[in-house]
Amino acid sequence: MSVNLKILRYSPKEGKRYDTFEVPYQRWTTVLDALLYVKAYVDHSLALRYSCRMASCGSCGMLINGKPRLACYTKISELNSNEIICEPLPNFPIIRDLATNFDRFFTNHKNMMPYIINEKTDRKMDDIHREFIQKPDEVEKYLQFSYCIKCGLCYAACPTTAMDKEFPGPQALAQMYRYMIDSRDQASRKRLEIIDNRHGIWRCHFAGSCSNVCPKGVDPALGIQLLRSYLLGFSKKGEEKAVLYISSH
Ligand code: SF4
Ligand code: FES
Repeated sequence: MSVNLKILRYSPKEGKRYDTFEVPYQRWTTVLDALLYVKAYVDHSLALRYSCRMASCGSCGMLINGKPRLACYTKISELNSNEIICEPLPNFPIIRDLATNFDRFFTNHKNMMPYIINEKTDRKMDDIHREFIQKPDEVEKYLQFSYCIKCGLCYAACPTTAMDKEFPGPQALAQMYRYMIDSRDQASRKRLEIIDNRHGIWRCHFAGSCSNVCPKGVDPALGIQLLRSYLLGFSKKGEEKAVLYISSH
C-alpha cells in the first residue's frame, strides 16, 4: 500500500510551498514513520522535530489533515485517506518546514509558576526525610492535569490564542490549576493574580477545542472553568481583594 504525503515546506528565504511524496505504508505505520521515510530516502532536508516515538516527549505535534495531532501517535491507516497533509502547528511561528518555535508557549507555562510553593509551613518540600502525605482524593484533584506532555496541540487548536497574543493559552492555564489545587501548594492568591486580567482567564470563550485534541486525556477547558470558579468563589468570600477583576472592571 502507498499513500501521498503532502508536506508544507517553509524556509525564511524561499517562503512556503507544498511537496508531495509517495510513501509505502503498513497497517501500523505512523505519520512520523512516513515522514522519517521521506527524510531518510527521498529528501534529507526535511525539517521536523521528534524524539520518543511513543507519545511521551510531546515534540512531534503538527497539523495532520487539518487537526493538531502527534505524528508518532497517528497511524496512516486510521486516517482513511489517500492523501495525508502535514503542516506545522498553527499559533506557533514556523522555524522551518514542520518545526515550530515554542518559546512563547514555554514562557507562558513558566509564568504560571509550575511548581509547588509552600512558604507558610516550616516543612520544606525538598526535605527528603519527611513526607507530605496526600489523601487519594487530594491527588485526584490534579492528577489528570499532571499528564500534560507540553506538546502544544491544545495551544494550536485554541481560537483565543490565535486572536490574542497575550493570552497564556489552555496548557499554561490548566497547569496553573494543577499546582494551585495541589494540597501542598500555598500560593493560590499569588497565582490567581497572574491570570485575573483582560488577557488572562476571562478571555477564554470556552470553545473547548483544546480538550478535543489533547492526546493525553487532559481536559484544559475544565481546568480553566475550575480556575474561574475558584476566582468567583474568592469574590463571594470577599477575602482576596487583589483578584476582584470582574467586579472592578
Ligand atoms: S494539555 Fe494536552 S494538548 Fe495541551 S500541551 Fe498538555 S498534553 Fe498537549
Ligand atoms: S516523538 Fe515524542 S511525542 Fe511523538
